[in-house]
Amino acid sequence: MPTYHVTTFGCQMNEHDSERMKGMLESLGYDEVGDRVEADLILLNTCSIREKADSRLIAHLGHAKRLKSEDPSRIIGVGGCWAQSLKDEVFERFPFVDVAFGPGQVNRLADFLNSDQLTAQGYFEFEGFTGHLPSKRAREFQGWVQISVGCNSVCSYCIVPSTRGREVSRPPAELIGEVARLAEDGVKEVTLLGQNVNSYGRDLVASDKMTFAQLLAAIDRVAGIERIRYTSPHPKDMGEDVIMAHAELASLCEHIHLPLQSGSSQILKAMRRTYSRERYLDRVALIRQHLPDCAITTDIIVGFPGETDDDFDQTLEVVEEVGYDGAFTFLYSARRDTEAANFSNQVPQAVKADRMARLLTVVQRCADARAQRFVGQTLEVLVEGASRKDASWLRGRTRHNKVVNFSGLASPGQTVAVQIQSANHQSLVGEASLLAHASAL
Ligand code: 5AD
Ligand code: SF4
Repeated sequence: MPTYHVTTFGCQMNEHDSERMKGMLESLGYDEVGDRVEADLILLNTCSIREKADSRLIAHLGHAKRLKSEDPSRIIGVGGCWAQSLKDEVFERFPFVDVAFGPGQVNRLADFLNSDQLTAQGYFEFEGFTGHLPSKRAREFQGWVQISVGCNSVCSYCIVPSTRGREVSRPPAELIGEVARLAEDGVKEVTLLGQNVNSYGRDLVASDKMTFAQLLAAIDRVAGIERIRYTSPHPKDMGEDVIMAHAELASLCEHIHLPLQSGSSQILKAMRRTYSRERYLDRVALIRQHLPDCAITTDIIVGFPGETDDDFDQTLEVVEEVGYDGAFTFLYSARRDTEAANFSNQVPQAVKADRMARLLTVVQRCADARAQRFVGQTLEVLVEGASRKDASWLRGRTRHNKVVNFSGLASPGQTVAVQIQSANHQSLVGEASLLAHASAL
């Protein structure tokens, strides 16, 4: 049997595409191997969101090149956003690559493998969805569902609109059918994916019209689905209906990831985020009003062109004011073909690094303080497997999306009650509570 190996970079959207690649390859008779060295087909599913992702990828490509020169019958494939952003240039710069394809072109890989192609092939049309392809899930009880592709925003720092195209929503009936099939197949937790999930449905024809909040309600009704998550919403589209859905729908988790990017209205304007600091804080107030205990996390970019000390202080202020449960923080990185890459007022690296260190201190202090509310509580935890720190312990996630390391006996995919004993900014520590466990079931 021919063998394959996939390396995935980037976001959950890419993880999801990789699961489709694996499912499709297995249906073609390929077998997965744990080490790239042993594979006949080497795939890299790439990301181009920041420069760091590019440089990591170049190192992996170098390794693939060496393996190909040792055995020229090997096939090297490069998929995802980085491939899409370079298109045919991939073959000029990396002549050992046999096939390259953009996101949503996973099925083209099958065409290529079935066609005895002698020349390198690139597939870069925006064609849509991989939902009809089989998938090989990393955990059988967790599934991803891509509800839309593309993005109609024009954030001046972001390469995604050019790699994933205009926003297209999948019809609701197709999505609900996919979730029902996942549930029948043992999935308890679904994560809905899109570049801007809460603008879902705006492009649908009248007969298919559905808002994101209505879609959440329909998925909540699917038997067997215990947890619904989604990523990422855009603050400009965060309506009261979605916030109320969290209060009303039993399976929708108590966690909202609301990317801030900057706390300065001036920088937000230069980023073309289309909301101000006040408008963002107003969304947070609405969340707190209806969902006082909901976890709120965010993305923040440090050192966007033109960011002054005062702008950065405003970001720190918003972090303090919101009191995030967690935040992903990024140094601004200029991306090809984006508006901000041409701005003349780039921030020096040393200034960016200094601001990042200060931001991390505040983010961690806030996350730590927020996590203390869980100490002494008994929380529902979906078990993911052995703890990474100590394999005799278990690891799982709360509905608030907090990682919990805990002692006790349980299998991956089980939902158990865990009594929380301590907490820090990253994770919680606890003990499976047998009595509560019995009553939870
Ligand atoms: N530089 C740094 N961070 C970026 N992000 C997107 N583009 C860039 C960039 N050019 C961050 C944003 C986004 C997250 C997925 O990545 O914060 O929300
Ligand atoms: Fe995901 Fe963006 Fe990276 Fe593409 S560029 S894989 S959409 S993070």
